[in-house]
Amino acid sequence: MITLGNLLATQGDGGVQQLDDHLFAGLLEAAPDAMVCVDADGRIVLVNAQTERLFGYGRDELIGQPVEMLVPDAARDVHPGHRTVYVANPRPRPMGAGMELAGRRRDGTTFPAEISLSTIDTEEGILVSAAIRDVTQRLLVAETAAQLASIIQSSHDAVIGKTLDQVITSWNPGAERLYGYTAAEAIGGHAEMLIPAEEDREREAEVVAAVGRGERVDQYDTRRLRKDGTTVEVSLTMSPIADRTGTIIGVATTARDVTEHRRADARFRGLMEAAPDAMVCVGRDGRIVLVNAQTERLFGYGRDELVGQPVEILVPDHVRGLHPAHRAGYLADPRPRPMGADLELAGRRRDGSTFPAEVSLAAMGTGEEFLVTAVVRDVTERLEIAAEQERLRTQAERDKLKRHLHQSQWLESLGQLAGGVAHDFNNLLGVISNYAAFAGEEVAKEAPDERWQTVRDDIGEIQKAAEQAAELTRQLLAFARQEMIQPRVLNVNDAVLGVEQMLIRTLGEHVELITDLAADLPPVLADPGQIEQVLVNLAVNARDAMPQGGKLIIHTASTSIDDTASQGEVPPGHYVSLKVSDTGTGIPKDILDRVLEPFFTTKPKGEGTGLGLATVYGIITQAGGHVRIYSEPGLGTSFTALLPITEQHMALAAPPPAEPPRGHGETVLVVEDEPAMREVTRRILDRSGYHVVAVASGQDALDVLASQLEHIDVLLADVIMPRMQGKEIADKIRILQPAARVVFMSGYTQALLGAQGVLEPGVHLIEKPFSESTLLTKLHEVLSTHN
Ligand SMILES: Nc1ncnc2c1ncn2[C@@H]1O[C@H](COP(=O)(O)OP(=O)(O)OP(=O)(O)O)[C@@H](O)[C@H]1O
Ligand SMILES: [Mg+2]
Repeated sequence: MITLGNLLATQGDGGVQQLDDHLFAGLLEAAPDAMVCVDADGRIVLVNAQTERLFGYGRDELIGQPVEMLVPDAARDVHPGHRTVYVANPRPRPMGAGMELAGRRRDGTTFPAEISLSTIDTEEGILVSAAIRDVTQRLLVAETAAQLASIIQSSHDAVIGKTLDQVITSWNPGAERLYGYTAAEAIGGHAEMLIPAEEDREREAEVVAAVGRGERVDQYDTRRLRKDGTTVEVSLTMSPIADRTGTIIGVATTARDVTEHRRADARFRGLMEAAPDAMVCVGRDGRIVLVNAQTERLFGYGRDELVGQPVEILVPDHVRGLHPAHRAGYLADPRPRPMGADLELAGRRRDGSTFPAEVSLAAMGTGEEFLVTAVVRDVTERLEIAAEQERLRTQAERDKLKRHLHQSQWLESLGQLAGGVAHDFNNLLGVISNYAAFAGEEVAKEAPDERWQTVRDDIGEIQKAAEQAAELTRQLLAFARQEMIQPRVLNVNDAVLGVEQMLIRTLGEHVELITDLAADLPPVLADPGQIEQVLVNLAVNARDAMPQGGKLIIHTASTSIDDTASQGEVPPGHYVSLKVSDTGTGIPKDILDRVLEPFFTTKPKGEGTGLGLATVYGIITQAGGHVRIYSEPGLGTSFTALLPITEQHMALAAPPPAEPPRGHGETVLVVEDEPAMREVTRRILDRSGYHVVAVASGQDALDVLASQLEHIDVLLADVIMPRMQGKEIADKIRILQPAARVVFMSGYTQALLGAQGVLEPGVHLIEKPFSESTLLTKLHEVLSTHN
């Protein structure tokens, strides 16, 4: 029995020391916990050194104080009640089962505590002794353990613990999921049940032994057997489990299912190998990590020779130095993109040869796993194809030019032929129509009444036919660019407006005429009558192409042709474009090249002569311009005449000619080798007040001049005659009779025309066949000018 006196003796200063007391005091002080004895009133009667340390009070401050000073504020009020309950049934027991207990230190802080109570029976009455342990540390450890356990519980990986003998000691839900065994089924079992093959078991046993010896084991890939007999690919890590003393007592293995990963990896590789391009994966350090079979083929290296090498090995020597900087640039902003846009990239083969390449880049992964994939395509072939296409295109262009040239040469020779025929024809027509006119006059004079009416009608028919024939030859001459023209500074819009009403009548009701004329159109140099003729011919063609009706659009504009637009056919420069478009049948491709030819027509006999477009062509080219045809079969056709802009200013229109003026006895020397023509001319002049000397050749003319018998006012000479040309005679007369004027007659003007088809200044020309009034007007005009 321990007496209170004994107890007090150990606590107080001095007093009787007994062995038992010593023993008790020693025990008390040796206890790892704080020990506090409290009397029935709740006052502290005894504490040990641990109490002082734990609560921060000195012994003196505690003895005699209510034990509630060691209770946290929140629980202090209810504590005396707990004490009373305990004393009523004082069995040794842990205090406050199920409650979180706490102690309060001197500084007011609290700590989690575990307290167990017991009673001590003394002479002074019952004392309650409390053993108080600070469990802060233990709670922390428990918490950490709980956290670790829950991490393992929630891990997707299969985490199992086993002894060094491979007896399973722990099994997480991840293991249940992966292997199919529950924890209850697995724990206590042998880990070899998870290993499918004998040789794998041996190997694993070795690994476990190595881990048991404290050796480090890298993660490795292997296979595991499931409960259902299937196997699964896993990536495995093993780590030692040590007991408190650090002795390795088991092994923890973490297994991750990599089947899916493998599959993805295999798919990725499959993709890479299937790709038609070389694919090179490069790590952050610029070293090659992975290549596909195409890379081997394209660059001529084996895989082994490439993996681990700097990617620069694939870069041509002369740019190799720059490449790392490019790489750094890409890494700074690793978006998927084609590499070196507009750069000419190249790859270098193992043998040092290079090839043009197209490269695109993509980055994947992060951190250690970061890879840049370069997709490299050899574009040699594509470049060759592009070059070939370019060559064919130029060839086609050249062919087109050639065809074009061919066509204009062809038209040119046709023109010469037509011009020659027309020349001879004109003479004949002049004779026919003038003699018909004389005959008509004679008949009218001799038989003005009904008599001879049929003869008069016949003569009229002859004249009509001759006029039609003259019209034909005129067109031929226009095509041959040998028509006598009177170019003026002209606004093409005025020409359009001048014929607009006539065109509306010609086109008929079914065809709508739309004019779209440019304001401020610059002037061109052309014969207004000819431009009108162009418009009429094009409009008539368009009408014929639109039997069901449609639209005819006349559009004028000023336009510049540069080198590229010229396509070699039109010299670059400024032009007025006159475009006549229709919504008609269009022109089939195979005849497009021929429509400009004279006498080319698709119209039934008698409806078209095929001279319309030939005339247009002749007129426009004679004016220094160009004709372009664009036709879409089924949709319509447009003809564009490009006329060069002139720098000259608009002249005032010449006044219209008055009544044909008569002569006043002036002497005209007519030189014409064609007798009929000579006679016609002689007769016209003779009866119109002129004195005529008519000769048949240049030599005769010279004789007349040399004889000095005649004073010649006008020399009227055919341009082209056998032996001596009109021009020669003209040169002579300038010497012999310098006052004489010179007028040439011709249907064939080439010999006198300059390149532009314009007469030299001071040279007068009258076109065959000419009417009486034309001849008289011309002579009057010539005679009234001063030399
Ligand atoms: N606007 C057009 N639409 C469809 N075809 C056209 C057009 N203009 C001309 N052609 C085709 O070109 C051919 C030649 O035209 P061109 O004007 O030279 O002669 P033509 O009209 O047949 O006869 P002519 O004009 O001498 O009376 C025509 O017969 C026709 O086939
Ligand atoms: Mg026509």
